[in-house]
Amino acid sequence: MNGLHLVVPIEKHREEWLAYLREWSLTGEGMTPWALDPCGGDFDRFLQVTAQFAAGVDIPPDKVPAGLFLLVDDEERLFGAVSIRYRLNDYLLQYGGHVGYGVRPSERRKGYAGKMLSLALAICREHKIDRVLVTCDTVNTASARTIRANGGILENEVIHPDGSPVQRYWIDNRKKTT
Ligand SMILES: CC(C)(COP(=O)(O)OP(=O)(O)OC[C@H]1O[C@@H](n2cnc3c(N)ncnc32)[C@H](O)[C@@H]1OP(=O)(O)O)[C@@H](O)C(=O)NCCC(=O)NCCS
Repeated sequence: MNGLHLVVPIEKHREEWLAYLREWSLTGEGMTPWALDPCGGDFDRFLQVTAQFAAGVDIPPDKVPAGLFLLVDDEERLFGAVSIRYRLNDYLLQYGGHVGYGVRPSERRKGYAGKMLSLALAICREHKIDRVLVTCDTVNTASARTIRANGGILENEVIHPDGSPVQRYWIDNRKKTT
């Protein structure tokens, strides 16, 4: 678990990013976070959109400024990705939260999600986000355990417009939990 970092994607991550997308596509799941592949497998556009979101420039009206970070080791192998929304709109407050993440399918159940959320909370602290909202589908036991292990306190469960129950957790980010 040592030697893991959250980094902003740049050109040198192209091949790993493509390999990650290929692996993820075999699961049949939609990409999580969405921001890891906003443009259908186009890496150049991904870098461009990521920079726009980070700067809060030219983003759609229903989106907010956000950072997209890759979880990599010292050899730049890509283990996961996390999206950090720097503020909440109505949708994020109800369903999406500040932080969304996913772990490479072949690397799951090894503790990477917990580490990634912990590193993401440090970035939230840099952005003065004192209370971090993290949500997950109620059926997503792995994500719920990850959130609780990082100090998440369940506020409530709401029903997403698609009909699925979603749990809303708040993390007091003024104190470091890990
Ligand atoms: C959810 C997800 C991020 C978990 O990542 P991970 O690296 O496998 O999780 P970890 O190894 O850190 O495990 C976290 C906890 O969940 C448990 N867990 C992991 N996979 C699990 C599974 N399939 N079923 C039940 N529990 C599971 C682990 O045992 C661990 O619990 P513990 O700390 O109490 O022992 C990963 O499965 C994923 O990317 N899923 C698809 C995208 C997604 O759902 N993202 C979250 C959106 S809110």
